[in-house]
Amino acid sequence: MIIDHGAPLSGSAGKVLWHTTMSLDGFIAAPGDGLDWAFRHPGPNPLRAEIIRTTGAVLVGRRSYDVGQRAERPEMRKVYGGAWTGAEFVLTHRAPPPNPSVTFLAGDIRGAVETALGAANGKHLVLIGADVARQSLAAGLVDEIAVHIVPVLLGDGVRFFSCPGGSPVDLMTLSVTRSGELTNVRYRVGRETGPGGGRGVS
Ligand SMILES: NC(=O)c1ccc[n+]([C@@H]2O[C@H](COP(=O)([O-])OP(=O)(O)OC[C@H]3O[C@@H](n4cnc5c(N)ncnc54)[C@H](OP(=O)(O)O)[C@@H]3O)[C@@H](O)[C@H]2O)c1
Repeated sequence: MIIDHGAPLSGSAGKVLWHTTMSLDGFIAAPGDGLDWAFRHPGPNPLRAEIIRTTGAVLVGRRSYDVGQRAERPEMRKVYGGAWTGAEFVLTHRAPPPNPSVTFLAGDIRGAVETALGAANGKHLVLIGADVARQSLAAGLVDEIAVHIVPVLLGDGVRFFSCPGGSPVDLMTLSVTRSGELTNVRYRVGRETGPGGGRGVS
């Protein structure tokens, strides 16, 4: 069943984070939704661990959800490989197969983000999927972007961010760290600039 959003929830102190793993040339998936490249450098990653610990809900695009559902790699079948528990929402226009551990949402992006952030109970909401994140940015709903840069050039695939004709989105660098082969970058979305300007939560 797809449910429509109710009234917006408010009063949450959590942030909206777009958290992803990206190739150096700006792709989050290889052609055919391939993600093997993203798992080539396992090992402890403090930024990832912190986000898992502080996140209360995720909002996943239907395409990312479907990729996870049909994945052979066990670490792709659950959010954060099963290392995370919380409220999982999937945004879709299509009737999904039943899944009692997921709430399927339909409707505008603002309602979906507000519903999911409310369910995070004061913790953060993580966006999963470039399309869902792009819509959220355009609506001014994203507070931070956290990216693990993988040292690989994919040349093709699903772009991290694509918005032809869009305006620049200004970011402020919060941290740059290294975990083994991965470079972790974390940005705050500009308060006054870009499409919508971010929520400006500090
Ligand atoms: N490297 C990483 O860390 C990482 C993280 C996440 C995902 N990925 C990869 O990225 C790819 C998917 O990303 P993506 O950007 O193509 O897609 P996505 O954001 O995961 O999903 C987009 C889909 O969500 C549904 N949707 C989006 N907005 C909606 C709205 N307002 N109302 C209702 N439904 C809505 C639509 O599906 P329907 O119309 O079909 O319902 C849309 O086609 C996959 O290959 C995935 O494995 C990589």
